[in-house]
Amino acid sequence: MLSNLRKIGQNLLRRSINTSSIACSDNLFVHRDTPEDNLDVNFQFTSDNLKKAEAIIANYPKGHERAAMIPLLDLAQRQHGWLPISAMHAVADLLKLPKMRVYEVATFYTMFMRKPTGKYHIQVCTTTPCWLRGSDCVVETVTKELGIKVGETTKDMMFTLSEVECLGACANAPMMQVNDDYYEDLTENDVKDILSCLKEGKLPPPGPRSGRHAAEPITGLTSLTSEPPGPGFGLQDALK
Ligand code: FES
Repeated sequence: MLSNLRKIGQNLLRRSINTSSIACSDNLFVHRDTPEDNLDVNFQFTSDNLKKAEAIIANYPKGHERAAMIPLLDLAQRQHGWLPISAMHAVADLLKLPKMRVYEVATFYTMFMRKPTGKYHIQVCTTTPCWLRGSDCVVETVTKELGIKVGETTKDMMFTLSEVECLGACANAPMMQVNDDYYEDLTENDVKDILSCLKEGKLPPPGPRSGRHAAEPITGLTSLTSEPPGPGFGLQDALK
C-alpha cells in the first residue's frame, strides 16, 4: 500500500505540469479596502428600490428567496453605479444569507462592477466574429477618442471601457454595448459619432448603424417577404 502511494507520488513529480496563461479580466475578484469601497461606506436601497426588491423576492417560492440574488445585485448596481461591498451586505441582509454567499455570486459574474465605473460603461466585443469584422478598430478608436485603455475609466467618471466576450449580436458584428444598449455594424466613424453624442449628453439611437433594421441580409430580405398569416392559419375548419 505504502509503496503504491510512493510510486504514484513519484509519477506525479516526474510528469511535467502544463499550465495555460492566466486569463486576465478587468474586474476585481477579491475585496481590497479602498477609500470608495470599505465597510464604512454607507449603502441603503432607496425606498423605491426597496419596494422593487420586495417584489423581486416575492417572485420566488418560500424557502427559495436566495434565487433573487442576481436581480437584487443588479438593482443595487443600478442604484449605486457599481457594486461596493456594503451593497453586497445589503443584499445579504435582505435575503437573510451569510455574506459569503453573496460574495460568491458577485465576484463570479463579470457583469458586476467591483470598482467605480463611469456613467457610460462601454463594452466592446472582441470575440472571433466581431474580431473578423473589425473589433480591433473599434477598441482602438474608443481608446484614442477617450484617452483610456481597456479596463480604465476617464478622470471625469463619464466612460469606462471593457473588452468582453460574445454579447450575442454576432450577425451585427462588430458591435459594442453602452450601458443597456447595443450599437451594431460599427465603423470607425460610427464609434466616433456615438462617443461624441454621449460626450454632449445625447443618447444616440441604439441598433445597427448600417441601415439594417435588425440582422436581416444587407441586400434585403430573402425570406418572410410577405405579410405573416394571422392566428389560426392552417388549422382544420373544425378546429377554428
Ligand atoms: S462575437 Fe461579438 S457579438 Fe458575438
